[in-house]
Amino acid sequence: MMILGLSCSPRDAGNTSILLQHALDGAQEEGAETEFFSVFGKDIQPCDGCWVCLREGRCHIEDDMQSLSEKMLAADGIIFGTPVYIYSMTGQAKVIMDRTSHLRLANKVGGVVVVAGSLGSIDPIKDLYFNMVVKKMLPANLVAVYATSKGEVRKMEQGMKAAHNLGREMVQIAEKGFQYPKGFGRNFHGFGTHTH
Ligand SMILES: Cc1cc2nc3c(=O)[nH]c(=O)nc-3n(C[C@H](O)[C@H](O)[C@H](O)COP(=O)(O)O)c2cc1C
Repeated sequence: MMILGLSCSPRDAGNTSILLQHALDGAQEEGAETEFFSVFGKDIQPCDGCWVCLREGRCHIEDDMQSLSEKMLAADGIIFGTPVYIYSMTGQAKVIMDRTSHLRLANKVGGVVVVAGSLGSIDPIKDLYFNMVVKKMLPANLVAVYATSKGEVRKMEQGMKAAHNLGREMVQIAEKGFQYPKGFGRNFHGFGTHTH
């Protein structure tokens, strides 16, 4: 059992990373192996819209997304973490969603951790959950915490506890081994030219 914590904050060792590490501690307590990946210092370039990934199952851009994609595929559960930047997820989080649109993440458990200074958590939460639904992942809980300066989140005891519990819950959900029925494709809801 492997749980991956993915921090999409460009700030090193910031609040999102702290919460994610705490969630991974919870997952370890339930017996899982864990891995932490931060976008800090990584080379993650935007999607260029070529759709090579859909034909070849692999993005042609050779950067740190290649190793992240392998980690995501190997994980039983992925906790997506992002701070709120201008009422949304960070640019890095959105790029990761774009660059993993071809990845088959079905039946993996998904958790969400969002940190805001004051306003704007709900849109990234909804967007991250919707992305999971499209991919037929199994949504676990979310943790939304308010903190601004680096490390401030440690003072938010309830939020820290909720993150720890999220990690534990993810392992327990993954252990149930739920599988979506095969043969129905992704959960796309719109039909148009690019669903031909
Ligand atoms: C460019 C930028 C934009 C931000 N926009 C918002 C915002 O719209 N709403 C908000 O509540 N906090 C906003 N914040 C504050 C961060 O969400 C907050 O500092 C958070 O704790 C950062 O998490 P981190 O330490 O994991 O990077 C912004 C911070 C930055 C650097």
